[in-house]
Amino acid sequence: MPGKDMTRYTVRNATVLVLSLLAITPCATASSGSQANGFDPDQPTVLITGSNRGIGFALTRYYAGAGWNVIATARNPAKADELNALAAGDATVVVEQLDVTDLERIDELARIYSGIPIDVLINNAAVLGDLPGQAYGTLDYEQFQWTMAVNIFGPMAMAEAFESNVAASEQKKILTLTSGLGSLTLMSKMQGMIYYRISKAGVNMGMRAIRANLIQDGIIVALIAPGMVQTQLLADSGYTGKALTPGQSAAGMAEIIDGLTLDDIGKPTNVDGRTIPW
Ligand SMILES: NC(=O)c1ccc[n+]([C@@H]2O[C@H](COP(=O)([O-])OP(=O)(O)OC[C@H]3O[C@@H](n4cnc5c(N)ncnc54)[C@H](OP(=O)(O)O)[C@@H]3O)[C@@H](O)[C@H]2O)c1
Repeated sequence: MPGKDMTRYTVRNATVLVLSLLAITPCATASSGSQANGFDPDQPTVLITGSNRGIGFALTRYYAGAGWNVIATARNPAKADELNALAAGDATVVVEQLDVTDLERIDELARIYSGIPIDVLINNAAVLGDLPGQAYGTLDYEQFQWTMAVNIFGPMAMAEAFESNVAASEQKKILTLTSGLGSLTLMSKMQGMIYYRISKAGVNMGMRAIRANLIQDGIIVALIAPGMVQTQLLADSGYTGKALTPGQSAAGMAEIIDGLTLDDIGKPTNVDGRTIPW
């Protein structure tokens, strides 16, 4: 329920303040970072949001197959059957509960994984939002706010919370999935999907803005659009044309991620390597 969850933003700072005043470290939940004991210290580590389906699951499967340690997060792990099956057969894949609008849980997870280097943080989770609610004239502001919470505030909070893990790693990369729908240049005449488009333009600017902070730690900040990909999100958008499979998109993005350097200025890159204009 959007309204209820948004209150988490207002309580976060107060909670952090109270905890630091009391010098209390909250206990880890049952899904503890001790699961990372199965990690291979000689392999890089990736943390992925929204790992249970779509592109997030394909990225999880790709990196697991490549031998990486994977912190695969999902907002409802109990229902993440495919992901749980993958993790059951691979000690280097751990499943953690994470709703990216739950800032307290983001901080808790960061505490659980404190000191564990994370080479690549992938902000994959996002919502499209319902289409009638984001048509001009009938904008649903509760859904609007919810979309911003998932698609912009979530990635920003993840970057803040896991910055030190990424800085401590060898590869030092923070990647956020964007979309050509966030491009002011490409989409200037398009109608509809207003808050999804705003959210992608917003997260582009957010990541571009924090690049100046993160570059001081040697962290590469990147925006990659996965292409048109056969997922629930694409089906919900009404698109019926040609699309990549999630596996094809994940492999293409992994290749781009592999080649990222600090010289990249963080402009959105499509999975086929083309630069997407702002
Ligand atoms: N598919 C495309 O053609 C396309 C094109 C351009 C960009 N993208 C981007 O690619 C990314 C992945 O999209 P997709 O197509 O794979 O979408 P999808 O199939 O709809 O999957 C979305 C994922 O995000 C998760 N999620 C949603 N709200 C969340 C929250 N509050 N906290 C944590 N996880 C949450 C979902 O979890 P639940 O199962 O719990 O809902 C699911 O795992 C998104 O950033 C999207 O904007 C996709």
